[in-house]
This record gives sequence, structure tokens and C-alpha cells, in this order.
Amino acid sequence: MAEARREYWATRIGLILAMAGNAIGLGNFLRFPGKVAAYGGGAFLIPYFITLFLLGIPLFWLEWAIGRYGGEHGAHWLAPMFYLIAKKRFGVRGAKIAAAIGGGLTLAVGIMLTAYYTNIIGWIAYWAGWCISGKITSITEVSQAKTAFIQVLANPVYNLIPWIVTLVLIAIIVTGGIARGIERAAKIMMPLLFLFAVALMIIGFTWRTPVRPEWDSLKGFFWMWTPNMAKLADPATWLEGTGQIFFTLSLGIAGIIPTYASYIRKEEDIALTALTTATLNEICEVILGGSIAFTLAYAFGGPDAIALVAIQGKSPFALTMVAYPAFFGRIGLAGAALGAMWYLLLWFAGVTSAMALVNTVAALLEDFGIRRTYGSFISILLLLAAGIPITIEGMLTGGETVYLDFTDFIVGSLLLVVTCLIEAILGGWFVWGPEALEEVNRGGYIRIPEWVWKYVISIIDPIFLIAMLVWLPMSTKIANFLTRHPLAPTFVGISVTLTILLFIIGAIMGYKCAEKYER
Ligand code: PHE
Repeated sequence: MAEARREYWATRIGLILAMAGNAIGLGNFLRFPGKVAAYGGGAFLIPYFITLFLLGIPLFWLEWAIGRYGGEHGAHWLAPMFYLIAKKRFGVRGAKIAAAIGGGLTLAVGIMLTAYYTNIIGWIAYWAGWCISGKITSITEVSQAKTAFIQVLANPVYNLIPWIVTLVLIAIIVTGGIARGIERAAKIMMPLLFLFAVALMIIGFTWRTPVRPEWDSLKGFFWMWTPNMAKLADPATWLEGTGQIFFTLSLGIAGIIPTYASYIRKEEDIALTALTTATLNEICEVILGGSIAFTLAYAFGGPDAIALVAIQGKSPFALTMVAYPAFFGRIGLAGAALGAMWYLLLWFAGVTSAMALVNTVAALLEDFGIRRTYGSFISILLLLAAGIPITIEGMLTGGETVYLDFTDFIVGSLLLVVTCLIEAILGGWFVWGPEALEEVNRGGYIRIPEWVWKYVISIIDPIFLIAMLVWLPMSTKIANFLTRHPLAPTFVGISVTLTILLFIIGAIMGYKCAEKYER
């Protein structure tokens, strides 16, 4: 079976960079600052950090444990992993149902989320091209940037080409396999990402008043850290703070962390490596992502730009797609250089995350005898199919993005929580039991105490997750999506239909593949 040609990460640093690449994505540099601005600056960080310690890090450990355990038994995606664990308590029948749910969630979240996510990466590539070619200097006003961007949305040539090129590159990387494809790409892209991010942060802190003396970049930084405590009374702040932790650590996203963890050797440390990866992700998010967004936005756009960052919290690309191009263009070639660093950094961040997802789909298809090379390209086709409504909607509506925003809500917020809930139940004390703790601690450079598993993962986290599941649909105004444009209900309908369809196909595949592991 699969074990015959098992793949492993070649080096620990490669593993950390690939895992960090998976976690560090557009979430860190676009979504995080957006949410901070929208939900009360420093106040948002309160639910954010509470969730990081209470759910984020424990569930991250859990996903690594589930993944490595699966890998030991030849399982490289969530469905067979759920099967193996659920079988311990629920028997073969129950375990097959768990596998079906895992399969459905993997395919639905994996494809739908990556479809829009890679679309955004395509737009980023488009602006990167403008910066590298110096053409960006022709844009000096936000209104011009907006017009240019709407043209991208409305014109399939500009919309599709950067996206497809990005997808094909990702497929080529994934085709190379774990050590020779993914690990190698991460070893090149991640150091460049860190380099650009640190450089931009230093520029943000030191080039304090490039445009107007009163637009001091440090004011932006202080704005980020000043809590607007009134926002804590808004349940959305709590929900979004929690949601951001899931998104940024890739928790519950189609099992991409478990899949990466399945290529770790049985006796290798995961406890400390996971903690290191989570720490790297947090540094990239709170320190680098936050500082860059707020200092640059303020220095180039003044207090009004903070409002644009906040819009980004609701719609994941506003600032970067329609404001920064003008900020960069305004200051000539220096801006073009700054912009090139910014968009390349985002592109690396996005690609190293998206390739984790394409890899998961490839691993899933491998279970059905499809070679990795074909699997990578099949997943690219699926992504194209699930992402094309974005282009069609842009063309028909002159730049609306209801499909994207609604899909982000369903798969990028809601289904992550569902996945984590199932993981916490299966991986917790009542199903997997003490064996889980043994798994995560085996070979560990640090020891995770028993109470983390027994109480935090098995009791506190499921309660928290159930509360979120009740709260999330109630607090989000679905009507807001439906009324944005006359065609909005159609695109919401397409999103729901595709998600359900993928869930059903994934569930059948999960159920079927479980049979292979019935030993
Ligand atoms: N953690 C990623 C981020 O912050 C989320 C993600 C991973 C999204 C993989 C898509 C694919 O952006």
C-alpha cells in the first residue's frame, strides 16, 4: 500500500519552513490587519490572544498528532485519519461515517477556499507586475487604482492569466513531491518572505513622514495597539478574534496541517516543532503583518487609510488592491521598489499556503491510485472550476465580489469551526484517549502536560467551538450578501451548490477510501 513509497520531510528546517509557509499566508498580512482595524485595534487582540492559547496552540498540537499518526498508518488526508482514530471507539461503521465527514470537509473547504484564495494571489501577481515594470508610477490617486482594479475584475484576460499562471506554478511545485517539490520551494520562498517583511517593517518605522508631516507612520502603529474597549461588547469582535486564529494557523482548513504532519517520521519531535511554527506564524502576523500594514497605511494615506484597512477586515483585499497601488505610485520609483517587495511578499505567502492545499488534494487522489503529477493538475482544474464564478461575476457586475465574500464566510469561517470540533471530539480524551498524548509527546523535545489534552482539548475547546457554531450564523447578516447586487442571490446560490456538491463527492471518496484501511 501507500507505505511502500512513503515520503518524508528531508530536514527539520525544511519541515518548519514548509509548515510555517502553510500557516503564514494572506491571513497574516491582509486579513489580520483588516480585522484589527475593523474590531477596535488593541481590543481585538484580547479575544485573539485568549483564543491563541486556549484553542489555537492546543488544536495545532492535536492536528500535528492526528497527522503524524495517520502517516504512520499510510494515511495522508483527513478522511482515513478520522477513520483510524474513530475506529478505536465507534467500530468500523461509525469510523466510516467519520471518514465520510472528513472527506466531505476536505474537498469542500479545500477546493472552495483555495479557489478564491488563489484568485487573490493572481491579483497580487498582477500588481506585482505593475511594480516591477515601473508602470505603477502612473497611478497616483486611489480612485485611479480602483478603476484599474475594477478593470481587472471585469476583464477575464487580466483576471484569468495571473491566476492560471500562479496555479500552474503551484501544480509544478506539488508535482515534485514533499522533499523535492514543497520543501525546496519553501526553502527559497520563506526566507525571501521574511527578508521582504523585515525590510518593509523597518521602512515603515523609519520613513516616518514620506508624504505629509502630520501623517507620521508611528501614529498608525500606535493606533493598532490602542484598544477601543467599547468594541469588546460586540459579539462579532470575539467571533472574529477566534476565527482569525483558526484561519491563520490553518486550523480546520481541509486538514492541510495533518497532511503535512503525516510526512514526519514516527520518532521525530512534533511538540516543540509545532510550537515553533505557531510562534513564527504569530511573529509574522502580529509583529510584521500588523506593523507593516498600519505604519505604511498611515504614512501614505493618513487617518483615512485606517478606514481602508478596516474595510479590508470585511472584504479581504481592499487596501492592498485599491489603495496601496496609489500610495506606491505616488512616490515614484522608490514606491515601485517598495510595492514590488510588498506584492512579492504576499505572493510567496499565498503560494506557500495554497500549495499545502493542492498537496492535500493530490494526496487524496493518490489514495485512488492517481499519480501525484496527474493529481496536482486535476486539483488545478477543480480550482479553476470553483473559481471561475469570480471572473464571471466580475464581468457581469463590473467588479462585484459577492461569490468570493460569501464563500469566504461559509468555508473560511464556518466550516473551519466544524472541522475543528470533529477533530477535538475524535482526538480528545474520550475517543482517542491517552494514546493521543503519547503520540504528540513521542520524540518530543518538550512535554505537553496531560491536562492540556484532558481538559482543554477534550472539554473546554468543544464547548467553545459549539458556542461559535451557534453564534456565527446568527451574527452574520446573510441578507447583506444577498442585497449587494441584483445578481448576488445567483452567485450565493452557485457558491452553496458547489460547496454541497464537493462535500458529497468528498464524503463518498472518504467513505470509499476507508475500506482500504480496514485491517
Ligand atoms: N493560514 C493561511 C493564511 O493565513 C490560511 C490558508 C492556508 C489559506 C492554505 C489557504 C490555503 O493565509
